[in-house]
Amino acid sequence: MFRFCDIAGRRWPGPGARFASLLRQAVLVLCGFLAVGTGNTEERGAPAGMSRAQIYRRVETVMALGRRMFVDPSLSASGKMSCASCHSPLYAFGPPNALPVQPGGKDMRQTGVRAVPSLKYLQAVPQFTEHFFASDVLDDSVDNSPTGGLTWDGRVDRGHEQARIPLLSPSEMANGSPAQFVASLRQAPYADDFRHVFGEAIFSDPEKAFAAALEAFEVYQQSYAEFYPYNSKYDAFLAGRGELTTREQRGRSLFEDPAKGNCARCHISEPAADGTPPQFTDYALVALGVPRNKAIPANRNPSYFDLGLCGPLRSDLRDRSEYCGRFMTPSLRNVATRRVFFHNGVFNMLRRVVEFYVQRDTNPEKWYTRDADGRVRKYDDLPEQYHGTVDAEAPFDRRPGDAPALSDDEIDDLVAFLRTLTDGFRSAK
Ligand code: HEC
Ligand code: HEC
Repeated sequence: MFRFCDIAGRRWPGPGARFASLLRQAVLVLCGFLAVGTGNTEERGAPAGMSRAQIYRRVETVMALGRRMFVDPSLSASGKMSCASCHSPLYAFGPPNALPVQPGGKDMRQTGVRAVPSLKYLQAVPQFTEHFFASDVLDDSVDNSPTGGLTWDGRVDRGHEQARIPLLSPSEMANGSPAQFVASLRQAPYADDFRHVFGEAIFSDPEKAFAAALEAFEVYQQSYAEFYPYNSKYDAFLAGRGELTTREQRGRSLFEDPAKGNCARCHISEPAADGTPPQFTDYALVALGVPRNKAIPANRNPSYFDLGLCGPLRSDLRDRSEYCGRFMTPSLRNVATRRVFFHNGVFNMLRRVVEFYVQRDTNPEKWYTRDADGRVRKYDDLPEQYHGTVDAEAPFDRRPGDAPALSDDEIDDLVAFLRTLTDGFRSAK
């Protein structure tokens, strides 16, 4: 095991440095697993002194297992729901429909409270921290405040911890316990492969088998070909292998211009210093004052608020009122494949989202409900005492009566640029 992880930590000597570093990531995931596992590596099937080819094959096998589990509805209590039901491979591993929250649970009639995020480009999400200092910018003393972690509120750090949530959540895959999940897993057509990789006796210890399954989900999500291929039109353009149209070019400028969209302030659009293509997020948790979505069943209760970082789904920062209303800045890669936007899925059209950004402050009446005496309740999904947290820099630096930061034509240009971020671009040539 020592050798195995030692190799993983070093620079991979194989061909193609980028591919190598991607593979290393998956190996590291497996390694972390081995380190926190039983310590009995023979049982896990990763004996010390594996050759590079063996390690590579092992990663491939676990990935393939994770891929089969990801689309297998027999791993849910209803027998009808897999990870792919919500994270559809046809929609960048995001929701396959325009519903703000997906049906699930034993009877497929329960719902959660948030929109399904895409699972693409999560490979570099940093661990959650309350005080993030970016190393990529000139002044690294700038504290960017809460940053990182998975889910809309950053409450888990790793894919395997994340997978636990839907597998056991009563409104999602609804397994009553890890043991119940494992009982289904051992009936799966690929159960023998599972034994082969994780040890013949793996199913005799449900907790261990559960942990191994969580790891397989995580390793699968490290498959760069499926989850971070960097093959959008914009990637081709950045690599000098393609052109953007004039409209897309204009959209890109508007996206980056601090006096216009200023989107790149949070959704970073330029490659990192080491040449890594841009992720279109800085991973910060920010409050935008997104309108309340009446279509979410939980919101029928007027005193229910999803406050993101300060709860109620996340429980460790409940007393930090300055964090209320903050949600993860998602990557905008593949955003044009979505039909629900923001943590509460309040918008169904990408263009509407951009309109919201530039007209939130110039025309609040377009976005928010009114109270009994007709006054617009700005930020109506956030109790008044937290309004001070909401971001107020450009494009949010305007007042009613001002011109929005982007005209209608400019919004179209910007949307055209966002459409260049969809993976699977093939040039006409
Ligand atoms: C019923 C729909 C549903 C199912 C089934 C489901 N998810 Fe999710 N997933 C969600 C929602 C909703 C979120 C956002 C949760 C939040 O913010 O609290 C999410 C978040 C995630 C994230 C974090 C993404 C990010 O942007 O930080 C990962 C990773 C993930 N799911 C993996 C899985 C895996 C693996 C499975 C199968 C074991 C799965 N999901 C099954 C709905 C689902
Ligand atoms: C201050 C940081 C910040 C700026 C500036 C910013 N965004 Fe965002 N963006 C976020 C955050 C945070 C979210 C998630 C908010 C939520 O769900 O409550 C988000 C979500 C989105 C989404 C929805 C994605 C999804 O998966 O649901 C789109 C589209 C988007 N932003 C586009 C833009 C565009 C276009 C601009 C420029 C006009 C922009 N953003 C400027 C932080 C920012």
